Amino acid sequence: MTQVIHDVRGVGYDADADGLARFEQLIAADDKVEPADWMPDAYRRTLVRQISQHAHSEIIGMQPEGNWITRAPSLQRKAILMAKVQDEAGHGLYLYSAAQTLGTARDEMYDQLLTGRAKYSSIFNYLTPTWADMGSIGWLVDGAAICNQVPLCRASYGPYARAMIRICKEESFHQRQGFEILLALMNGTDAQREMAQESVNRWYAPALMMFGPPDDESPNSARSMAWNIKRFSNDELRQRFVDMIVPQAEILGVTLPDPDLRWNEERGHWDYGDLDWDEFHDVLAGRGQANSIRIAKRRRAHDDGAWVREAARAYAEKQKATDAAGRVRQAVAS
Ligand SMILES: [Fe+2]
Ligand SMILES: [Fe+2]
Repeated sequence: MTQVIHDVRGVGYDADADGLARFEQLIAADDKVEPADWMPDAYRRTLVRQISQHAHSEIIGMQPEGNWITRAPSLQRKAILMAKVQDEAGHGLYLYSAAQTLGTARDEMYDQLLTGRAKYSSIFNYLTPTWADMGSIGWLVDGAAICNQVPLCRASYGPYARAMIRICKEESFHQRQGFEILLALMNGTDAQREMAQESVNRWYAPALMMFGPPDDESPNSARSMAWNIKRFSNDELRQRFVDMIVPQAEILGVTLPDPDLRWNEERGHWDYGDLDWDEFHDVLAGRGQANSIRIAKRRRAHDDGAWVREAARAYAEKQKATDAAGRVRQAVAS
């Protein structure tokens, strides 16, 4: 049996006979793969996993900062932080929508997160005990996210790439607001400077680990690169991040907590010290500072939102019935 697909360009092809060739053609031309296109199962699975993990990270990532909205030191800081946390909710929603175009229901993705079967970025399993952590998260965590995500604006899957364009614009605002919080603290009293430095000391290494394990321990990277999902390796992106933050740290006047950090004339890059990958794997395995707090809070929020989902469903049913009745009236009238 043949299954004819009509893609967004209006080209029709037999999915069984020509699907793979068509897909390979799109990838070779560095063109976009769209939801209606034929794609290999492994490509679809990889994308669903990556995009849904990314969506979960945005949603869970609201918690460490949401924690500070009521305690931010001024009305202006509260308003900025609230806008930032709302942006992250929006990022989660664009990304869930992008993942849904691959045929996985949103309920299923939520369920995977709430039952611990899906991962989210480990960075959000660290606690935020001080106000300076809002600065460090914006500067370092959103900064690392930008390095990771700008190349994803060119990812081969259309809906993912398009979602990333808007997300990246908002991420640069997040990074600047974090930098500005730290700058204000560094221009403040001794106690404020100490608070900023202490916070940077805690976030520096976890931020570097956000790019994932070193290239020789990252088995799926090569395939994602061949599919034009990933454009640079973990270590390349990590290097780009270090090169970006060293001069910024200088402007801030904070010391990055890495005694091996030095300019390498030959490479034209900053060398940095080894990272504690045992800590990374521990947090990934659920033994971070806040893994259980984050999931428990997410579950509670999901349960508390049950009535909203219920109301939205009832409203959609009502709309459908009204639309159907309207169509009948129109048909009778004409
Ligand atoms: Fe985000
Ligand atoms: Fe962000």
